[in-house]
Amino acid sequence: MTTPLVIDTDTAQDDCVALLVGLLDPDADLRAITMVAGNVGFDKQLRNAFLTLSVAGRLGEVPIHPGCRRPLVRPWVSAENVHGDGSGGLSMDDADLEPEREHAVDALIRLAAENPGELSIVAIGPLTNIAMAAVKDPDFVRNVGTLYVMGGSNNGRGNISAAGEFNFYVDPEAAKAVFASGFEVTVVPWDPLTLRQAVFDQERLDTIAAIGTPLSDFFGRVCAATLEFDRRVGIDGTTHPDSLAASLLLHPELVRRSGRYHVDVETAGELTRGYAAMSWGVHGLEANATVIEEIDADGFFDHLVGVLSRRTVPSRRITGL
Ligand code: RIB
Ligand code: CA
Repeated sequence: MTTPLVIDTDTAQDDCVALLVGLLDPDADLRAITMVAGNVGFDKQLRNAFLTLSVAGRLGEVPIHPGCRRPLVRPWVSAENVHGDGSGGLSMDDADLEPEREHAVDALIRLAAENPGELSIVAIGPLTNIAMAAVKDPDFVRNVGTLYVMGGSNNGRGNISAAGEFNFYVDPEAAKAVFASGFEVTVVPWDPLTLRQAVFDQERLDTIAAIGTPLSDFFGRVCAATLEFDRRVGIDGTTHPDSLAASLLLHPELVRRSGRYHVDVETAGELTRGYAAMSWGVHGLEANATVIEEIDADGFFDHLVGVLSRRTVPSRRITGL
């Protein structure tokens, strides 16, 4: 049986890889892509998503819904310094491609309501769209089956600041609202999970490059800018938080250990904007989330190798590939 899901994304670098997982993993039934302000310019994110659909050979098959173009309260902060344009300079003729007219928040509400309790959402950008949907439709929280969130760190390091992980830092008010809404959330944190178990070193990157499919070439191109950035900040390889979140939803057997936590997000701190306070059950707070603590790292890598080994024919010619 396949898992019906929506990926809520700020499409650049590993978001593209997460979309490939949603599009090509035989266990996934990707119903829609919803876009939120985050990594790079909003319209560029939309183009990156179209490009990813094309490289997967599925252009026109999965709708893309544009969502919130800025965080709930604060000005948008981007991560072009990390991801470049998010697509490694690749491009295609996309002048005729239009996203859906239905707003991402309405699409999320509708898709969840169509089959209450069955839809999974993998949220791999700031949580603006998800928080908005929960505010707009009082039934949304109940209608969503599973919510996987890539964000925060489990009492560890941030990335955009010492304390803040990018997705929660960009829209801390939305992240706080989501954890207070009553969703049954599963969190895929930056530290330790991504930072220590989902980094692909040079040997792994060479293995992927040697696959020699359009998808593996695409992977190398979209991850190049991030690899350079990571090396500058002392991370020995490319980071895969978003594709990890999608893969763990579809393959729970890759989870080795998880724990129940009360998660809340700092919105008032001077130095700790977006910090995720993950309380592990000894502070008298009721758990509102499952936080994944350890994965089968080799199994995750093998899974991505499997996805990138698929012999797709891009829907349109991609310049630079
Ligand atoms: O902190 C990691 C997150 O922010 C990921 O979703 C990635 O897309 C990034 O920029
Ligand atoms: Ca992302």
